[in-house]
Amino acid sequence: MLDLLVKNAVLAGSDAVSDIACQDGRITEVGPAIKALAHRVIDARGYLVSPPFVDSHLHMDAALSLGMPRRNDSGTLLEGIRIWGELKPLLTPQALKDRALKLVRWSVAKGNLAIRTHVDTTDPSLMVVEILLEVRDEMRPYVDIQLVAFPQDGVLRAPRGIELLERALNKGVDVVGGIPHLERTMEQGRESVRILCEIAARRGLMVDMHCDESDDPHSRHVEMLAFEAQRLGLHGRVTGSHLTSMHSMDNYYVSKLLPLMAECGMHCVCNPLVNMNLQGRHDTYPKRRGLMRVPELLSQGINVAFGHDDVMDPWYPMGSHDMLEVAHMGAHALHMTGVGGLKRMFQAVTENGAKVLGLDGYGLTPGCNADMVILQAADELEALRLRPARLWVIRRGKVVSETPEVVATVTIGKGEERVDFV
Ligand code: FE2
Repeated sequence: MLDLLVKNAVLAGSDAVSDIACQDGRITEVGPAIKALAHRVIDARGYLVSPPFVDSHLHMDAALSLGMPRRNDSGTLLEGIRIWGELKPLLTPQALKDRALKLVRWSVAKGNLAIRTHVDTTDPSLMVVEILLEVRDEMRPYVDIQLVAFPQDGVLRAPRGIELLERALNKGVDVVGGIPHLERTMEQGRESVRILCEIAARRGLMVDMHCDESDDPHSRHVEMLAFEAQRLGLHGRVTGSHLTSMHSMDNYYVSKLLPLMAECGMHCVCNPLVNMNLQGRHDTYPKRRGLMRVPELLSQGINVAFGHDDVMDPWYPMGSHDMLEVAHMGAHALHMTGVGGLKRMFQAVTENGAKVLGLDGYGLTPGCNADMVILQAADELEALRLRPARLWVIRRGKVVSETPEVVATVTIGKGEERVDFV
């Protein structure tokens, strides 16, 4: 007797209708018309089934803090950082944990079962780190949460920045972060990249650095990150996040930069919702979009995933932690609305994110974890267009969230018509 049998599902990346058999938390068989008894049978009725969504870049410690202690009037990254600095001394452990757990429930309802979140390490109490470690461990049955030690004010600029970051890693934070463009000088930024990559190499950890998150065409920290990854043998273990200045860089320079990034197997994480909001704020007209050059990166064979980055916090006042919203914005802002482009947007919030996090057992083939999302959509393109209900979200063969099918009944004149948006 199987634990779970999903019937009549259209698998992401395929037009075929398949059944999916799950036992002991794993997918055991995928194929047409599986004949087996199961404790639970879900009829997907020809809807799309996808591996879970992956948020490759989040700030869970700030999530849902919108308006605390005030709103961001200028809409800039720097005012957001100032507001977060004002909020930090006011944070209490229970309120922080309550917000993080609420955010995780939103994530599960939207089918995000893997999250890489940066956690601020610059407060000497490291209370925020302690709380997110608790959340990571308590939520492990439902969501894979990876923590990045993130020195929000700059690891060299913040008092005792390196010591606090190392203490956070000693407590069990998973990944080494950084923010070189926020150090006092370009040279200090370069130095921070070197120090942080050496810490990661010594500890055998991955690196995920906020890099060049500005509209400055001369910001060059991603080049240094690629250099250090190559020098220290961190091939495939380094991620460059945001990289927004790449939008404004000189084309000739970018033609040299991208092969350097490919050479060290760098992953990139683009945050379309938030950087479309934050970038170009110092421009009059035309206003730059300020996203990294995603089509060009992909064409070099570089893995690009997307992150939500912020959900209702000092940097972004909206969002429900829906990765399809992120991909939807990416499709527009990156001019990736052709069929191939849209499929790549879907991959950026699913399988490419799994590569960034280095997830084991991700996918919809036998032997993979029985983790999946059944959406009220016929295929990936329709999922992007509609950002529809996640009808069932399944983790290790068990349903962890259900949302009823969304159907409207429209009455115009005397006629009544069902509109199901599909
Ligand atoms: Fe970020």
